Amino acid sequence: MTDLATLALEVAREAGALLLERFGSPARGVGSKSSVTDLVSDADRDAEALIVRRLRAARPDDAIVAEEGTSRHGTSGLSWYVDPLDGTINYLYGIPHWCVTLACADGEGAIVGVIHDPSRLETFTAQRSRGAFVSQRRLAVSTEPDLGKALVATGFGYDAEVRRRQGTAVARVLPRVRDLRRFGSAALDLAWVAAGRFDGYFESGINPWDVEAGILIVREAGGRATRLKGIGDDPRPAVVATNAAIHEALRTLLA
Ligand code: IPD
Repeated sequence: MTDLATLALEVAREAGALLLERFGSPARGVGSKSSVTDLVSDADRDAEALIVRRLRAARPDDAIVAEEGTSRHGTSGLSWYVDPLDGTINYLYGIPHWCVTLACADGEGAIVGVIHDPSRLETFTAQRSRGAFVSQRRLAVSTEPDLGKALVATGFGYDAEVRRRQGTAVARVLPRVRDLRRFGSAALDLAWVAAGRFDGYFESGINPWDVEAGILIVREAGGRATRLKGIGDDPRPAVVATNAAIHEALRTLLA
């Protein structure tokens, strides 16, 4: 692995250990962000502080953009996108489906991506043009060629009006696929597309720290991950990630 990939892996695992140690205990410092449904706690903040401290020490010239507010300019041309705890609501409810995700990107997208799931001891990694792996095993997307038989994941934002529009998209897609899943972590949704556990994933209005690593991991696992201008009457940019066979069909259905 390159130095960047090793750093990303080590940092994600350290943050994962911090989060796992506190998982299931009463949450501290819980507050709301963009709406009453959008929560943050000391766990998110402390994991972000750990990751930012480690990245700053090892890569002082890189930019960092992280979910809980870190925004640092850099001069190296490389940027880190960090979600210290993706699946915050699951975490706070004691549901073991959350992860740490970080990506290092240049002007063409992520060059290194890590999604670490401490509850299952699974770490999904990819380096550009070097494939995607879960632990030591190479990842490959599913081979399902028929959208009507596809298991597709999605996610929702925290704003009520946004959710109304996302619900409209769900109503359109649901009768046209095997089934939909909403598990609550966009990064794990993408990792699971890469692993062939889902045939596809889509979500509008998603943030770069949620998806940069996952997009690289899906592509390196042989899948397609693309942006869509909007979904139905939701004008916000969306991400669509699938195996290669059903990609155009799902994009057409969503657009
Ligand atoms: C959220 C999760 C969720 C997705 C939301 C994200 P958070 O991230 O990834 O699955 O649907 O759009 O904001 O708030 O748990 O870090």
